[in-house]
Amino acid sequence: MEIQQFGTVRDFPVGLSRETREYSCQRLNQILADTQILYSLYKKHHWLMRGPTFYQLHLLLDKHAGEQLPIIDEIAERIQTLGGVAVGDPRQVAEITVIPRPPDGVEEVPAMLSRLLEAHETILVASHDAAARAADMGDDGTNDLLVSQVIRTGEMQAWFLAEHLVETPLVRA
Ligand SMILES: [Fe+2]
Repeated sequence: MEIQQFGTVRDFPVGLSRETREYSCQRLNQILADTQILYSLYKKHHWLMRGPTFYQLHLLLDKHAGEQLPIIDEIAERIQTLGGVAVGDPRQVAEITVIPRPPDGVEEVPAMLSRLLEAHETILVASHDAAARAADMGDDGTNDLLVSQVIRTGEMQAWFLAEHLVETPLVRA
């Protein structure tokens, strides 16, 4: 039996209205689901990587996955702090996420990197918007989490991925 339904918030005396906490929890759960998918995509591509830059990318993608894990925990615990219910089961995550499902097999290396970049951008666009709205509604803690963790880390990781996709001119002897 459920004692609190998904999508509802309990009354916690944290100085924020129920409406604000409900709104933040809804936005945070979307970003939480998408970030859990981003983490899984990093591990999938860490495993499936190949080619001349295999070792470098194999290590980089695992590093990024490792940096996303504590962010997942922070978003989930922010939702609980606001009285909400964090999405946890990967099957519910799959229902909520807006990040497209990749093929089960192996794509070309640039396609795998582009897929990760697109997932980052989806999360970044949602986080910028949610952070601004959270600030407008007085939820400074959610704004801070989104800006200082989700956005900062996501932008940095997107940079590292994007540098692998920039075409470098051929060196002429
Ligand atoms: Fe590994």
